[in-house]
This record gives sequence, structure tokens and C-alpha cells, in this order.
Amino acid sequence: MTSFRKIVALARPEKKPLVTAIGLLLMSSAVSMSIPFTIGKLIDFFSSANPQIPLDLSTWQASGILLALFTVGAVANAGRSYLMRMSDTVSGQRIVARLRENTYAAALRQEVEYVERGEGDVVSRLSVDSSIVGESVTQNLSDGLRAVVMSSVGLGAMFYLSPNLTMLMLVLVPPVSLGAVFYGRYLKRLSNKTQEAMGEMTKVASESLSALRTVQAYNAQPQEEAKFHQRVEDVLTLVKKEAIATGIFFGSTGWSGNVTLLGLLGYGGTLVSQGQITVGDLTSLLLYTVYVGNGLQMLTSFFTSIMRGIGAGTRIFDLLDREPAIPPRGGIDIAPNRRGPVKFEGIQFEYPSRRNVEILKDFTLEVKVGESVALVGKSGSGKSSIQSLLLRYYDPIRGKVTFDGQDIREFSITSWRSIIGIVPQDPVLFTGTIASNIAYGNSSATREQIEQAARNANCEFIWGMPDGFDTQIGRQSLSGGQRQRLAIARALLKRPAILALDEATSSLDATSEHRVNDAIDKILRDRQTTCLIVAHRLSTIARAERIAVLEDGRIVETGTYRQLVNDPNSRFCQLMAAQLAATSSEVIDAPSSREEEIKEGEAVEAEKI
Ligand SMILES: Nc1ncnc2c1ncn2[C@@H]1O[C@H](COP(=O)(O)OP(=O)(O)O)[C@@H](O)[C@H]1O
Ligand SMILES: [Mg+2]
Repeated sequence: MTSFRKIVALARPEKKPLVTAIGLLLMSSAVSMSIPFTIGKLIDFFSSANPQIPLDLSTWQASGILLALFTVGAVANAGRSYLMRMSDTVSGQRIVARLRENTYAAALRQEVEYVERGEGDVVSRLSVDSSIVGESVTQNLSDGLRAVVMSSVGLGAMFYLSPNLTMLMLVLVPPVSLGAVFYGRYLKRLSNKTQEAMGEMTKVASESLSALRTVQAYNAQPQEEAKFHQRVEDVLTLVKKEAIATGIFFGSTGWSGNVTLLGLLGYGGTLVSQGQITVGDLTSLLLYTVYVGNGLQMLTSFFTSIMRGIGAGTRIFDLLDREPAIPPRGGIDIAPNRRGPVKFEGIQFEYPSRRNVEILKDFTLEVKVGESVALVGKSGSGKSSIQSLLLRYYDPIRGKVTFDGQDIREFSITSWRSIIGIVPQDPVLFTGTIASNIAYGNSSATREQIEQAARNANCEFIWGMPDGFDTQIGRQSLSGGQRQRLAIARALLKRPAILALDEATSSLDATSEHRVNDAIDKILRDRQTTCLIVAHRLSTIARAERIAVLEDGRIVETGTYRQLVNDPNSRFCQLMAAQLAATSSEVIDAPSSREEEIKEGEAVEAEKI
């Protein structure tokens, strides 16, 4: 029921039109509810031997009053209908829009793990669930109120006319409402399931559409279609279930309504023949029964769509109320020019999605102000995970990361992230211009600053493009090396206190590698930025002041490049030897090209001589 209250609360800002509409609704209902009564009185009037009009009005006066009453009713009804339509479309849409924006914001502030696990789900919450909730607020709220007015006024009038007959009819109400309650609950559960199935469907589709290149390369379209088909079937099955339940419910309520009507007619007819009530009263009574019946039916469909709204709403409110594992607010703001060492202290870490697999066991590492440390280790040893911890995508299970002697969990997350520049393994581009991509999250950057950052990151390719910095790019429209350098420019533009590079040169050819290393070199020589570099290539590793070797979730060795290289027993040498062995065996596998290379090399050498 708290969901219900929240849904009603959504309509609160739209109170004015809704309240006016309700006022008009009461007016028009009052008029239309008087019709059965009037009809009954008219029948008695014309069928009696000695007709009498109450209050001593003339026939003309009485007709005039009725006409005026009907006119007022009609005007009120028109106004209500207009306001309701407005609130359906405008207020309803406004509510949906607000709900969507809040849901999106809620999704963006969650920890990455949550969203990455169920990306499509957020999407369907944004699109389908919110519109179901919006619908249930406006349209049904007004229909529901109308139904309440109709059935309660109708019942009151019936009691006035004949308590006996009304009691007879009321016998029917409890079983029907009990049915409605069960049906409503069932529908709520079903609606929640349907929305979940829709979410799964969107997830499957968005996953394969975003990897269309791979899907096509492996001719996996039929397989993807089958996967999607399964999800669509799931939705269909649930919708069918709902249709069956609805059919049974409305069928049986309709049936019992008609039976009641017959019962009333039989018993009422007896009463008339005994002279206990007039024919006019019985007519009014039957008409009221129809009104009340309609009202109850509207009330149940109001009830069921509120239930459906609550089903869908639960999913939205779950997300809206969810406390992110990494709190987005609170904490101390770091002065942007504060500098200090970064320390990982006795860190133990496992991914929430893969409990009991310890990625880091007792990881301790200090990077001093302006120092550069190259983190090396086998693939899968946890290097990228360390950077995730640094950025607080995750928090460690035990131990802490400190900056300038303070646990980074004490800082506000935004101010902490704003002093870190990150170049991830696979940098992401956004649709837009190159300039807007470099200035991502940094809207106040001037064109000069952007160009300077690009220059520092050796992004000379930008100047070679026809539109330069205004070239439009998409997610995939730059080469790996270009993307990497653009990401470096993006990180540099922040003037970060800490720079985290993840295998920035591993996917590059020799020339690009050189350009990127050159860019990194500039930053390192500055000694303004504390650098944590994850690297494979010796050329990059050698530039760092210190090397730390990661093995089995902890640092097993640190030292300068010279120290480690000169010690043949060092873990570092073994690691590099293993890499070299792997590379040279590749070369041996392709002897002809190797020979060619050597010949070319010799030719060059000879020329030099
Ligand atoms: N999001 C994740 N959820 C669960 N396990 C993960 C996740 N990311 C990485 N891992 C696992 O953590 C280990 C370390 O990964 P990673 O830090 O990316 O290694 P590296 O960068 O050194 O190659 C790997 O065994 C990997 O399978
Ligand atoms: Mg990695």
C-alpha cells in the first residue's frame, strides 16, 4: 500500500485540475443520479388517477426546473470531461515525464555493478513501467471517483425507496468484492511479472544490437532471434494469463449482476402486487441497480488498473528508493589543488557478483605525490580491479585506500572523482564532436584548453580531419590508438592530481605506441601528477619511476626498472621472459615474414653504413 500512496503522491502537483474536475463530477453525478428518481415519479404521475406534483408546481414549472437541472448537469459534465481529458493527456504525461526523469537520475547514481547487471531493465522501467503508472494515476483516479459517487449515491437512493429490496441486492456485494480482491492481487503479481519479462526482452535486444558487429561476424542472427523469440513468448504467456483472469472475473460479475436484477424484479413485482411499493418506485429502483452495477464494475476496473499500476510502480519505486552501495552524496569536499600520496592498505577485494573469488588478498601499495608507478602482472591478476577501487566503482571488503592520509570513503564521491583522470583499457566515445568528447564532463573548458590537452596527448590526427575538432564521431568511429589518445586528452583536461592509465599502449602499433608513450612521458616529467600505470609494453613500463609486480592478489616485488631488470631472479624478469617467449614463438611460427623483416633491416643498416 505504500506504493499506492506514492502513486497518489505523484498526482499531487496536478491537484488543481483534478480537484476542479472532481467538483464538476459531483455536480453532474448529482443531476444524472436524480434521473431514475424522476422517471419513477413520472411513471407514477401518469399512471395515477389523481396526479399531483410536489410543492404545488404547475406542469410547466416542473418541466422548466427539470430542463434547467439537466442543462447544469450537462455543462458540468462537459467541463469535467474536458478537464479529465486534459489531465489524462497533459497532467498524465507530466507525471510520466517527472517519473522518467527521476528514475533515470536514480539509475545514474547507482553503483556501476547494479546497472551493468540489468541494463535493459532500467530501460524498460523508463519506458513502459512509468507510462503504466502515469495512466493509473490520472485516468483511473477520475474514473474511480466517478464510480464511487455513482454506486454510493445509487445505494442511498435505493435504501430510501425500499430497504428490503436493497438488502437483497447487497447480499451479492461481498462475494463479488472478495472475487475482486483476489483478482486484483493476482493481477498485481502478474503485472510485475509481465514488466520483468518485458525488461528481459529489452535486455536481450539491446545486448545483441549493441554488439551487432559480432553477431553478424558469427552469423548468429538466427540464434539471437531465437533468444528474443523466447522472451517475447514469455511476455505473451503472461498477457494471455491476464486475459483469461479478466475474462473469468468480468464474466462472473456480469452474470451475478443479471441474476440479481432478475431476483429484484421478481421480489419487487410481488411487493408491487401487494401494494407495498408503486410501479414508479420499482422502476426507479431497477434503474438505480443498473447504475450501481455500472458503478461497481467501474470501481473494479479502477481497482484492477491501480493494482496494475502498483505492480509496475513497485519496480520503479524500488529503483527510486534504492540506496546506492557507493553513497552519491555526503562526505568532505577535497580542495581541487590538494596533493598527497595515494595508499592502498591491506586491501582484500572480491566482486559482489562473484563472491568467494578473492581478486585481491592483501594488496598494499603507496604512490607518492608526483611519482609514477607501473603496475605489472599477468592478465586477470586484478590490475584493472585496482583502478576500479581507486575510482570507487567498488569498495574493498577489508583495508582501505587513502589519499593524503585520509580514507577516500570520507570524501564526497564527486570531488574525489574530479581529481582523478582515467584512461581505461577500452575508452568509450559518445556521439558528438571530437571537442565535446574531450571536454566530456567538463563543459566549462575553453577551446584553447581542449586543443592544448589534445596537443599534450599527441592527438595530431585531429588537425588532419576536415572539420578538425568539430568532426562528428560515434561510438566506434575512431581507431584504437586514436581513441586511446583522445581519452588521454580527456583525462589531461581535468588537470588531475592522480592519473590512472590502464594498458594505454597495449592495443597500439609501434608508431602510435611511441606517440602515446611520448604523451605519457610529458606528464611524468612534469611530476605534477601522481600516476598509476597499468602496462604490458616494456617501452611504457620503463618510463615509470617504480615498478610493482602484482601476483596472487598482492604486490610481490617493487623496484626501479634498472633494479628489477638487473636481477635475473626477479619476478619481473620472469614475467617479461614469459612474455618474450610468447612473442618470439609467434615469430618462429611465421619464419618467412621474419626473414623478410631481417633482410629489410639489413638493407637499412647497410644504407646507413
Ligand atoms: N565485473 C566483474 N565481475 C566479476 N568478476 C570480474 C569483474 N571484472 C573482472 N573480474 C575478474 O577479476 C579478475 C581480475 O580482473 P582484472 O582486474 O580485469 O584483471 P587485469 O586487469 O589484471 O587483467 C579476473 O579473474 C576477472 O575475471
Ligand atoms: Mg585489465
